[in-house]
Amino acid sequence: MSHQHSSEQRHFETLAIHAGNTADPLTGAVVPPIYQVSTYKQDGVGGLRGGYEYSRSANPTRTALEENLAALEGGRRGLAFASGLAAEDCLLRTLLVPGDHVVIPNDAYGGTFRLFAKVVSRWGVEFSVADTSDPAAVRAALTPRTKLIWVETPSNPLLGITDIAALSGIARSAGVRLVVDNTFASPYLQQPLALGADVVVHSTTKYMGGHSDVVGGALITGDAELAEELAYHQNAMGAVAGPFDAWLVLRGIKTLAVRMDRHSENATRLAEMLTRHPRVSQVLYPGLPEHPGHEVAAKQMKAFGGMISFRVTDGEEAAVAVCDRTEIFTLGESLGGVESLIEHPGRMTHASAAGSPLEVPGDLVRLSVGIESGDDLMADLQQALG
Ligand SMILES: Cc1ncc(COP(=O)(O)O)c(C=O)c1O
Repeated sequence: MSHQHSSEQRHFETLAIHAGNTADPLTGAVVPPIYQVSTYKQDGVGGLRGGYEYSRSANPTRTALEENLAALEGGRRGLAFASGLAAEDCLLRTLLVPGDHVVIPNDAYGGTFRLFAKVVSRWGVEFSVADTSDPAAVRAALTPRTKLIWVETPSNPLLGITDIAALSGIARSAGVRLVVDNTFASPYLQQPLALGADVVVHSTTKYMGGHSDVVGGALITGDAELAEELAYHQNAMGAVAGPFDAWLVLRGIKTLAVRMDRHSENATRLAEMLTRHPRVSQVLYPGLPEHPGHEVAAKQMKAFGGMISFRVTDGEEAAVAVCDRTEIFTLGESLGGVESLIEHPGRMTHASAAGSPLEVPGDLVRLSVGIESGDDLMADLQQALG
């Protein structure tokens, strides 16, 4: 199912639709079928047709998605998992052994922090929290035992921006690996491997799937040796994407480019409106010129994405009330779907970071700006702010 040779010169929008998506060799179906199967008939012991023997190890629908992911991120290999956290877990248990040290960001998805703080730390891996938007702070956090630097940019939920190329320079000279969670940007807006990252992580649940109908994760790397190790661990640990979930993500990715353009356009309009609103004390959106990461974002991103966070003037209860009052923005966790979502990170997605260096302000509201009419979204937010 590979188009890898010819795909390398093609543009993103074309790759999104065609990479990994060759017509089914049996029927000519233009979309890869959902190979809802666990095992494959062998023509005599060890006589595999097309290399497939058991669907934890490989499944044709998942292969199609994995080839697509590798092409979109400009990597050698993509691996699709049951969730973003399953991908992260596989990566960490492939790269780290007891005694190792990791630098993690001071703003990140609460579940990623929980994985480090509550799970991986029990296996003897230590971590330091650093402001990754400041390369000097990351350099200062390195120890002789540091094995990797973990970055999320833009970060969840404070929309902090980390200079991927600058951190890749630091990582390289220290002999450590740089991992970038590219969930908020998607490969259409940002390509971490080209900027020097070693591994890209995705929650494909978000923009890649794009329709709030699937949970999935991915790892993509340009390092052939590491790709082999990760694939070995993916099979050995087993948290793979099922065929239907892989198919849903592959289908979502076809419209990624047009969706991200619209998400970014709508979010830019809303962010500008929010900066002028009397009940809003601060707007966190990398597209705003006053955002501290704006210049770096403009350098490494094609547009600024669909995520906005803002703080309300009257404190936590007022922030919760705004979340309760929207009509088009649905109150819910997650992000990256075509429909707009609103949430209160302190009590919802980031509740697990309470009391930690990653705790978020109580007056914070997070928006996942969808691709509905920008006028309708504007009116909804204005009425909710009162
Ligand atoms: C930036 C980021 N990374 C990783 C994850 C974890 O992904 P999943 O929920 O698919 O396990 C999330 C989920 O919200 C996220 O926002």
